[in-house]
Amino acid sequence: MYSNYTTPVEFDMRDVRIVDFRSDTVSLPTARMRKAIYEATVGDDVYGEDPTVKELESRSAKMFEKEAALFVPTGTMANLLALMVHCSRRGSEAIVGDKAHVFLYEQGGAAQIAGVLLNTIPNLPDGTFCLDQLQNKFRGLDVHEPQTSLVLVENTHNMCGGKVLPLKWLDALAEICKKNSAKIHMDGARVFNAAESLNVPVSRIVRDVDSVCYCLSKGLACPVGSVLIGSNDFIKEAHRLRKALGGGMRQVGFLAAAGLCALDEIVPKLKYDHIRTRQIAESIRNLNSSLITVDLENLHSNILLVELLNKKLRPSELTQRLAEVHPKEIEDGLVDSSKRGISVKISARDWAYARIVVYTNVTDEEVNLAIRKIAYVVEEYQHNLK
Ligand SMILES: Cc1ncc(COP(=O)(O)O)c(C=O)c1O
Repeated sequence: MYSNYTTPVEFDMRDVRIVDFRSDTVSLPTARMRKAIYEATVGDDVYGEDPTVKELESRSAKMFEKEAALFVPTGTMANLLALMVHCSRRGSEAIVGDKAHVFLYEQGGAAQIAGVLLNTIPNLPDGTFCLDQLQNKFRGLDVHEPQTSLVLVENTHNMCGGKVLPLKWLDALAEICKKNSAKIHMDGARVFNAAESLNVPVSRIVRDVDSVCYCLSKGLACPVGSVLIGSNDFIKEAHRLRKALGGGMRQVGFLAAAGLCALDEIVPKLKYDHIRTRQIAESIRNLNSSLITVDLENLHSNILLVELLNKKLRPSELTQRLAEVHPKEIEDGLVDSSKRGISVKISARDWAYARIVVYTNVTDEEVNLAIRKIAYVVEEYQHNLK
């Protein structure tokens, strides 16, 4: 369900132009980033001797206006460390949206490794959840119950289609959590996209959260890495536990150098990813199709959910057909400037949605190729349904 890769069967791959919208995780390092990696000054980071890692950590802490930061290999490890530190008391629980990455796609590491109970609350379509419901979920001091230590939010919200959590909602959430002595962790894998969309600094978004992590290897185009950010005490403990999880890395400044480059080069350009996502969304909406549509009014960032309206075209079918190149398309002139057929990769999410994700390497030409291919395939299905 999570990713969907199909190979066109009728064509040699060399004849095919592939445009890949499955995820921003497939983004590739830029030339400037590759140079920064090559030239990085490095040392043994487990000994605390890698100056480039230190620079990324201190710069991240400063940007987010928190005390300290820690470079970790993945977003999954960053979230797990947050759970382990905030819920260190045995018998703790964390409340999390039922569509959160932490709940759905991190293998239940909270239970498996951290010994933390995840208590879910239904996510609303905008990535938030009902704060009255949250209030009712906090446990009291009854000896029968676990202790609610943490509330976890995701921003932007991946499964909800790149939704940006409203600042007002975050402010109200902080008040409730404070009242109930619970900490807040933000899975900010794409928090820079949220900041871009709201036109505020990331520090405003995370003002009242106790910890946040952001991913370098999604829309920021780095090969590896996430940064976990919080107070000095929080990071000190996360640093200790990172070693236990096998996340103590040595000359990792090569990767931190990519991260520093991303902050300079990619973050200021995220707006173009959002613009291109909107162009694709508008083109789908303009098809006025009974088969597929998009919620243009609630498109916030670089993740577009394509809704399949008619059970005669399933997300998996659309995904497969877009990736294939049929001889008739070539005859009909659906080719790129080198006369190659166009394979568009997207991912099927569930029974009703497919997902398109835009990232820095996606060009205007590729957006246009995708728009043409989607229009062609939808027209083909409409025709066959008649
Ligand atoms: C919202 C969110 N959080 C966390 C992760 C996990 O990141 P990683 O793949 O680096 O473990 C992802 C990955 O796609 C994600 O989308």
